Amino acid sequence: MKIKITWYSHACLFIETSKAKLLVDPFISGNPLSPIQAEEVAADYIFVSHGHGDHVGDTIAIAKRTGATVISNFEIQNWLVNQGVENAHPQHIGGGFDYPWGRVKLTIAQHGSALPDGAYGGNPCGFLFYIEGKKIYHACDTGLFYDMKLIGEEGIDVAIIPIGDNFTMGPDDALRAVKLIEPDQVVPIHYDTFDIIKQDPQSWAATVERETAAKVVVLKPGGFLEL
Ligand code: NI
Ligand code: MN
Repeated sequence: MKIKITWYSHACLFIETSKAKLLVDPFISGNPLSPIQAEEVAADYIFVSHGHGDHVGDTIAIAKRTGATVISNFEIQNWLVNQGVENAHPQHIGGGFDYPWGRVKLTIAQHGSALPDGAYGGNPCGFLFYIEGKKIYHACDTGLFYDMKLIGEEGIDVAIIPIGDNFTMGPDDALRAVKLIEPDQVVPIHYDTFDIIKQDPQSWAATVERETAAKVVVLKPGGFLEL
């Protein structure tokens, strides 16, 4: 079976492998672009990159309904357990762990991480997935940082990076990110959800494909690619 990566808009990804269903940053309720309802989404594992509401999203409700294991940094894991989430696995930046479906390592991200109730959410992260021989880098919310080059040295099949500007990298820095990461394919995310992060992904894609060797996959909410 191929790995199927569906974009539910914003930073929310649904990754289906032969062994598990992985859900990242499930901001569904209150997300004007979401193509699904929180009540219908499936998950065996949920990943939370940082504490902001547009990433924690529906994590608690989905985890309670599905029994999914939530993977996040140690501080967010503590908070989730206090909110009644039963299965939570803490990791932290630079650390990887082998799960039954593959491995995930937390990477740095330049951003904030306060939780919706103001609790301390540790440091934000990105996720580097190693699944069935493929490497998928989800940068999550971040500004440009030069260490993306180190992540790229691993040989990234797909990089998922923000282009929305204002809260994260905008199109110009996202182009520089692609040059540092050198992925085979890149998917732009974290744009158009709100007026303040409106972007033109097709124009960004044309620039990236002119200036780098990466193929840009512009998805519509609910759209997917397969590896
Ligand atoms: Ni954020
Ligand atoms: Mn965000």
